[in-house]
Amino acid sequence: MDFSLTEEQEAVREAARDFSQTHLLSGVVDRDSKALFPKEQVKMMGELGFMGMMVSPKFLGGGMDTVSYVLAVEEISKVDASCSVIMSVNNSLVCWGLEKYGSEKQKEKYLKRLASGEILGAFCLSEPEAGSDATSQKTTAMDHGDYFLLNGTKNWITNGGSAEVYLVMAQTEPGLGHKGISAFILEKGYEGFSVGKKEDKLGIRSSDTHSLMFADVKVPKDNLIGSLGFGFKFAMETLNGGRIGIAAQALGIASGAYELALAYSKERKTFGKHISEHQAIQFKLAEMATLIDAARLMVLRAAYLKDLNQDYADASARAKLYASEIAMKVTVEAVQIHGGYGYVKEYHVERLMRDAKITQIYEGTSEIQKIVISRGLIR
Ligand code: CAA
Repeated sequence: MDFSLTEEQEAVREAARDFSQTHLLSGVVDRDSKALFPKEQVKMMGELGFMGMMVSPKFLGGGMDTVSYVLAVEEISKVDASCSVIMSVNNSLVCWGLEKYGSEKQKEKYLKRLASGEILGAFCLSEPEAGSDATSQKTTAMDHGDYFLLNGTKNWITNGGSAEVYLVMAQTEPGLGHKGISAFILEKGYEGFSVGKKEDKLGIRSSDTHSLMFADVKVPKDNLIGSLGFGFKFAMETLNGGRIGIAAQALGIASGAYELALAYSKERKTFGKHISEHQAIQFKLAEMATLIDAARLMVLRAAYLKDLNQDYADASARAKLYASEIAMKVTVEAVQIHGGYGYVKEYHVERLMRDAKITQIYEGTSEIQKIVISRGLIR
């Protein structure tokens, strides 16, 4: 068993680390506190090839493997988890599904612009009454001959205001359950499509999360992804990969907080010595490092299975479940090690603790990951 990274993978990690330290760190506290969308930073991520990392170069992507992608997500999340979710949604939830199931025409028209970072995409499954229970979609897309007529509301959409292209799941045959759901591509300018309020969130505050409204939006027939009734499967398969991205994000948040706590423990003195010399702190650091190590192995395994084209749904759910749980634990401990300083913004760990919470909620709560895992066990 070989745990080493290739030279290319190491180089991607270095590039992401360098970018985060040089371009994300300095403004992250301000962006978080004012909930400012990182427009310039996202543009730079596109220029550096972080927005379509796994897409084939034929469609202007980076042609990289999933392992490289998770290494980049981890590094960016250590510093700015808002930037990493913007990136992760574009890569995993938008570009991946379009490349795998989109028509050539859709790839030419949309994927190239998304993968090169020219525009941003969003993935629209959740609704006011269909979050975890994704089958209960109320949004409809009825066949009107030349087009589908879309009506409904989506909630909690990452990149909701800043995206230009939206992958939207909707009922085309209400009554058929998940087999009546189809997936569509929407453009921001379509008549009847409006972006609702921006959520004021606990964490990942500078990413923009919105509700979306569709009132008699005419969607061209060419914008159906795959076939009628394929939308639920499309969403589930897309989320299997998306969860690897969120697991990597949780891992990055945890390792970012751990690195800050370790450094702080070697500077801060109490009772005449550095706090790193107190056994109470040493035990905390040892446990944090071990949890992170285990999460990293799970995240890399899920990414590696995906790269091998093996079944990765179970590994990705486990990685997301575990990495998000430890991100919460590790960030709470990082705040504790910092004491009072941990509770103020300039030391970064309080933000990482707030950011960690969302990783237990989006792209399927921890409970949803347990459903996915247990179904595999029972089957
Ligand atoms: N991978 C592939 N296929 C899957 C699947 C998976 N992980 N899970 C289910 N399916 C398939 C099943 O095989 C089944 O297909 P067949 O009928 O052909 O056998 C079909 O989908 C229906 O499956 P279930 O009967 O198991 O469906 P269910 O209604 O019981 O729901 C669920 C299953 C796992 C709970 C699912 O609803 C789910 O994952 N819910 C959570 C949704 C979610 O993650 N939402 C987050 C949205 S994205 C987001 O967070 C926004 C953002 O911007 C970041």
